[in-house]
Amino acid sequence: MIINEKPTKPEDLQPTSRFLRACHGLPVDATPVWFMRQAGRYMPEYRTIREKYSLLEIVSRPEIAAEVTMQPVEILGVDAAILFADILLVVQPMGLHLEFVKGEGPVISNPIRQLKDVEKLRVMDARSDLGHVLKAIQLVRAALTDQVPLIGFAGAPFTVASYMIEGGPSKDYVHTKTMMYALPEIWQAFMEKISSSLVDYLIAQVEAGAQAIQLFDSWVGALSPQDYHRYVLPYSQKVLRAVQATGVPVIHFGTGTSMLLQDMKEAGGTVIGLDWRVPLDYGWKLLGYDTRIQGNLDPVALLSPQPVIRKQIQDVLQRAAGRPGHIFNLGHGIIKHTPVENVKSVVEMVHEMTNNPSLDFRG
Ligand code: CP3
Repeated sequence: MIINEKPTKPEDLQPTSRFLRACHGLPVDATPVWFMRQAGRYMPEYRTIREKYSLLEIVSRPEIAAEVTMQPVEILGVDAAILFADILLVVQPMGLHLEFVKGEGPVISNPIRQLKDVEKLRVMDARSDLGHVLKAIQLVRAALTDQVPLIGFAGAPFTVASYMIEGGPSKDYVHTKTMMYALPEIWQAFMEKISSSLVDYLIAQVEAGAQAIQLFDSWVGALSPQDYHRYVLPYSQKVLRAVQATGVPVIHFGTGTSMLLQDMKEAGGTVIGLDWRVPLDYGWKLLGYDTRIQGNLDPVALLSPQPVIRKQIQDVLQRAAGRPGHIFNLGHGIIKHTPVENVKSVVEMVHEMTNNPSLDFRG
């Protein structure tokens, strides 16, 4: 059992940090910035650690996971840290075999295909099964100041299910959709087990000290709105509601979601994460200004010269129109060949372009 060393403090409710203030829709002295995949292979300091340890080894050693989590905070000056972990960590305690194979990405050698596979799955107990991840959260919290909150995360039920069924990344989601359409009872039983595991894991992250949660539904754009509504929304909703009930802000993110935004809002989330395909002003208007927005520069823009990046940042910020409740991010994770100086410049440019010192609450 992990003891909560850093319980929710008053500033988590009336926060002074830019990131948490924006999550609550409060005015900020500059738009907060962080990046999905801000720790990773584009960064030489990360590659040095990866020469010695595999991804799964880093995650299983809380001190190293904490060190990697802190790298982008120290190097880039971002306004939030995201725990170094992976959305697929939950599959091992549920009973599947996970490997990250060079050049292929994640491989699950015993994927879920039939009822007996679902019946065999365990609902995990995060505190005993993923105690090392919770320990990393405590270490990171101890290293961070109150101005840089820690984001915990998990994959959303659909995205995690798709890996567990396909056995790895997929283009057409043939096995996943076939289970959904042709074996709906098995799909339901499976999604129940995944969503219960995710609720347990995310609440344990909050109890260990995560100050916000992001739910990654990275591949949900493969679904039509009607399929999302019928086969996915109830399970995402169960997870999002349970986490929101703890009081921490929840970012609900997906890609290819232009047609799914209202359904994603119905499923839940304090903040909705947009990918770059949705013009931010259009997405925000559609969702309503009571919703907070995260996004949405194209990650590929960061491979261009800085004047080009500046223009694209300006475009995103103009669409956000200075409304409180915008968190700047990319529309998806940083890609491998991105120059670190460009990522750093994004943080500086966003802060400089949105600077309003009269709203500095940081004391
Ligand atoms: O900095 C951060 O954002 C925190 C760490 C983080 C990782 N994975 C570490 C990682 C986060 C938030 C994730 C989430 C994740 N993992 C997602 C959702 C986000 C997204 O990209 O849509 C998904 C789909 C995964 C599954 C996954 N993990 C894949 C498909 C791969 C292989 C592809 C790749 O990018 O190499 C991974 C491996 C992985 N997870 C890496 C990192 C830094 C690459 C690491 C390496 O080999 O050193």
